[in-house]
Parts: sequence; C-alpha cells; structure tokens
Amino acid sequence: MSGASTTLVVDNKQVELPVKHGTIGPSVIDISKLYAQTGMFTYDPGFTSTAACESGITYIDGDKGILLYRGYPIEQLAEHGDFLETCYLLLYGELPTAAQKADFDYRVTRHTMVHEQMTRFFQGFRRDAHPMAVMVGSVGALSAFYHDSTDISDPTQRMVASMRMIAKMPTLAAMAYKYSIGQPFMYPRNDLDYTSNFLRMCFAVPCEEYKVNPVLARALDRIFILHADHEQNASTSTVRLAGSSGANPFACIAAGVACLWGPAHGGANEAALKMLEEIGTPERIPQYIAKAKDKNDPFRLMGFGHRVYKNYDPRARIMQKTAHEVLNELGIKDDPLLEVALELEQIALRDEYFIEKKLYPNIDFYSGITLKAMGFPTSMFTVLFAVARTVGWIAQWKEMIEDPSQKIGRPRQVYTGAPRREYVAINQRG
Ligand code: ACO
Repeated sequence: MSGASTTLVVDNKQVELPVKHGTIGPSVIDISKLYAQTGMFTYDPGFTSTAACESGITYIDGDKGILLYRGYPIEQLAEHGDFLETCYLLLYGELPTAAQKADFDYRVTRHTMVHEQMTRFFQGFRRDAHPMAVMVGSVGALSAFYHDSTDISDPTQRMVASMRMIAKMPTLAAMAYKYSIGQPFMYPRNDLDYTSNFLRMCFAVPCEEYKVNPVLARALDRIFILHADHEQNASTSTVRLAGSSGANPFACIAAGVACLWGPAHGGANEAALKMLEEIGTPERIPQYIAKAKDKNDPFRLMGFGHRVYKNYDPRARIMQKTAHEVLNELGIKDDPLLEVALELEQIALRDEYFIEKKLYPNIDFYSGITLKAMGFPTSMFTVLFAVARTVGWIAQWKEMIEDPSQKIGRPRQVYTGAPRREYVAINQRG
C-alpha cells in the first residue's frame, strides 16, 4: 500500500514522508517518523485529518454517501441479508456459505444465556438507573464471569469471547430493560432467530404466549445491520485504544458502550426523538430551524449533520423506509412525529444554512420514531445501538490484536500549562 512520498519543509530542513494508499479512499501521509526527524508532533484534535490505523473492515465515502462493509454496499446487505450474516462478514471478511452460516448461527445461539449469577449482579442497580448505565456495568462485569476467554494471545479464546459478546449483548440489553420496568427476566429461546429472540426477551412475560411479529423482527434486524460498524468512530476508536493496552475484550467493549452513550454519538437518536416531540407540530418547525441557525443558541437539529457524511447518510434512506414499514404494520396512521420529521427534513434540505454546511439527516433522524413505534422507551435506543455495534467493535478489536505491528495507542499533546516552577511550602503561599 505504500508508493510515493511527499516532502515537508520544517525550519528549512527537508523531510521525506512516505505516502500510503488504501484500496479506495484518500491516501495518507505516514508521519510516524516525523518526531524523530524534526522534534515536532502533529496537532489534530478531534482527528479530523488523522487516520489512526489500517483497516480492511468498513469503508465510508462521506462526500458521496457510500458505506461498504468488507466491500459490500450497506443497501444490498440491508435488503438481502440478515444481521448474523453481517456479523460473519465483519468478523471473517467474507459472506458465509449456507453451511458456514448455519454453523455460525448455531454457535452464536449457544452463547445467548448469561451466567445465572449475573441476575443477582443486576439486583445491585437502582431500578430507575438509565439502562446504558446498567450496560456499562454489566458488560464490564462479563470479564468477571468468563475468565476462560480473556487471554487475548490465544486465537481460540479471542473467537469464543467474540461469540459471547455478540450472543450475550441482546440478553443483557433485554435484562436492563426488564429490570427498569420491574418485570422478570426472560431466558433466551434458541429456536428463534437472533432478533426475534431479542424482541421476545424484551416484550414477553412468563404468564402468556408471545408471538413475534415478523415485520417488526425484520425491521429491527435491518436496524442492527445499519448500525453494525462505521469504521473509526468515537466508540470504536475507544475500543481500539482500550484494547491496545492488552485489556480483555469484555472490558474493551464496556469502554465502547460508555463512549457510545454520549449525545453527539449513540445518544443522538434519543435526542432526535425528544426534539421532534418538543417541536410537536409542523407549524413550529421554522422557529426551531431559526434556533439551529442562531450562532448564540447552542441548539442543534438533532439527527442532522455528521463528521464524515457531507451528503445524505445512506443508512438514513433505508431507515426512513423502515420507519414507514413499521408504522404501516402497526396501523399507526398520521403519526405526528413522522409528520414533523418529514416536514423538517424537507425544510432543512432546502435551507441555505444546511445546504452550505452540508448538513443532511443522519441515521438517528428516523431510528427514534421507528423504535418508539416498536414499543421501546427512548432510554433503550442507545442500548439497541450498542447491541448492533458490538460486532463492529469486536471485529475492529480482533483486527487490531491480530496485526503484528500493533502497539499501545499513546497520543501526544501540546502542553499549555505552567512552565517548570518550584514547590512552595503551604504556609508561604499567598
Ligand atoms: N444543527 C445546526 N447546525 C449544525 C448541526 C446541526 N445538527 N451540525 C453541525 N452544525 C453546524 C455547526 O454549528 C458548525 O457551524 P460553524 O461552522 O458555523 O461553526 C458546522 O455546522 C460544523 O459543525 P461541527 O460541529 O464542527 O461538525 P462536526 O463534524 O464536529 O460535528 C456532529 C458532527 C457532532 C454529528 C454534529 O453535526 C452534530 O452535533 N449533530 C447533531 C447530533 C447528531 O445528530 N449526532 C449523531 C451523529 S451520527 C451517529 O453518531 C450515529
């Protein structure tokens, strides 16, 4: 992947820097020797121009609105595949054959239960805790229960841990929900597919039969596919950084869950729905558009804009279609939130401010409406995102661990604090 080089002049000294090329996408200037050659670091807070790693998993062209998992367009995977097939693809690099798929489904299914003592671990949380708080704690706690898959130098243990994470996240997520509403935990059912089992664990109760609605199961499965990976986003970078020190995979994923919780990342769908509820009716949209454009007002249109996409987020298109399918299936006609969302999208897409700043709807804009219609409370939205993103985190973590050139991630800084000074005894400080 290397080829040409580029020349940088620092203090009249010429430095040759290698240029590396990926399969597609922008090339990168390799600055790993820059400090040794010039005594200077580079400065890029927020990583807006920095590639932190090589990766063969996911490709995004934010200007064209393209998202590929292992080369396959997200639209094709969401239309034709299922979530576990996507998991296989992300983990192993190729779409499975029928036999490989059946074996993979079987292996994931056999890991869906969590250690029975985890149920007692849950009792320690307050009932009114945010389910993401419960997820950060309980995912981290998995490393206390599964000691036999925490040796990261053993490929078999790495794969077992990966399977466990993918299989147990829905179980923990459903437990976090059930705990918050005071209902008994539902054990997983291995005769159901991944997403149907999850819906059942969330919405069934032991005293009656629960029939999974296949339209809702398919819609949620598609939502999981859309959220499965997104190259080096904040939570994935967090997982990689945590993993670079050799931490076990359960601890690394807990770090990813914590990062995902923030409203600028996974918390945005919850924030987008709250915003649509606050707007309430299409007549009030212009006043919110004006707020979003006002430099002195911190308000932003939630579900709009993206660090990478400067075009329509390809996932948002699929999400919009899915929202309509779910509302139709549930017989929800004239949903006021959908009405506000569609109108807001149209107004924003025509507005000079949004056009100039390339602010388009992102995936979170429609996912909140869809999940709410399915019966999930807003506090569960980011949890569902975490369930889906777990495979991406695990695939990226595995790729990093298996890279022979991998070393601990250790960014540097521009120090802007006090220069060296001498200690002053407490009675002499004024
Ligand atoms: N509403 C109004 N203005 C916005 C919005 C928005 N949603 N997003 C960005 N802008 C404006 C900023 O004020 C800024 O204006 P300026 O250049 O005049 O200062 C300009 O557009 C660029 O914005 P930045 O914050 O610098 O862009 P960045 O790439 O850092 O931010 C982000 C991306 C965080 C997603 C941002 O667009 C945002 O806050 N959106 C709302 C939250 C959201 O929907 N997050 C979900 C992200 S997708 C995901 O995590 C799955």
